[in-house]
Amino acid sequence: MKAIVVTDEAAGTGGMTLAERPEPEAAGNDVLVEVHASGFTPGELTWPSTWTDRLGRDRTPSIPGHELAGVVSALGYGTTGLSVGQRVFGLTDWTRDGTLAEYAAVEARNLAPLPGDVDFTVGASLPISGLTAWQGLFEHGRLQPGQSVLVHGAAGGVGSMVTQLAREAGAYVIGTGRSPESQPTESGCPAGARPTAADGHRQCRDPRRCRQSLQPDRAGQGEDNHPRSPRFRLTRDEEEQA
Ligand SMILES: NC(=O)c1ccc[n+]([C@@H]2O[C@H](COP(=O)([O-])OP(=O)(O)OC[C@H]3O[C@@H](n4cnc5c(N)ncnc54)[C@H](OP(=O)(O)O)[C@@H]3O)[C@@H](O)[C@H]2O)c1
Repeated sequence: MKAIVVTDEAAGTGGMTLAERPEPEAAGNDVLVEVHASGFTPGELTWPSTWTDRLGRDRTPSIPGHELAGVVSALGYGTTGLSVGQRVFGLTDWTRDGTLAEYAAVEARNLAPLPGDVDFTVGASLPISGLTAWQGLFEHGRLQPGQSVLVHGAAGGVGSMVTQLAREAGAYVIGTGRSPESQPTESGCPAGARPTAADGHRQCRDPRRCRQSLQPDRAGQGEDNHPRSPRFRLTRDEEEQA
């Protein structure tokens, strides 16, 4: 089967390559899933479990990606609760080959039926951020109807899940986002920055590559180095040189 593999932790996402790998086999209580959509976060490439198995042994070339949606193509010995041909979504084990592949072996308990009216791509985008939001709200926060929830980064992957789940649970939701001066302008750059000539295009496709510099906002405390902090503002290179 075709799969994306990594062999070199230092190479980061640049080391991800398309390769031919053996199709995985469904072990006891496993399900083999024909992957229709998968989720991947670059942070995985820094997790020890991407590179070693539970005993700490090297397991490269490993297949990243731990979220998936697809169709059950085989059942392992003793697997119950799911059937061949069923639409499913869920999470694969951190220490096993993942979902950036045509097939993935997953424990049946880590899958749930995917309703027919939910796209595979939507299903594959939900598991990790959805579980993170669920655990924060209900397992740690013990949210009750009528309570208020402050969601920092409410438009983000986790924040958008928190917002919807909290509202569904009858909570009053207050969300935060980035400050207006950090928002993309017409060119696509954050305010005060512009596309680099080296990019060779007028529109800024990646704000991180804009010509910009960060200066502490003297009105703020000046201690917080986070580029998105409201204590910092973006200035043009030209303004700095003037
Ligand atoms: N995604 C997951 O499944 C997952 C799982 C476990 C833990 N986490 C953790 O949860 C956090 C959020 O992850 P994410 O995946 O949701 O990230 P994300 O999709 O990038 O969302 C982050 C959100 O925070 C906003 N934001 C950034 N700086 C802000 C500021 N100074 N004030 C207010 N809002 C600000 C961003 O606004 P813009 O949209 O304008 O940039 C964005 O909407 C991270 O710490 C991550 O490590 C994530």
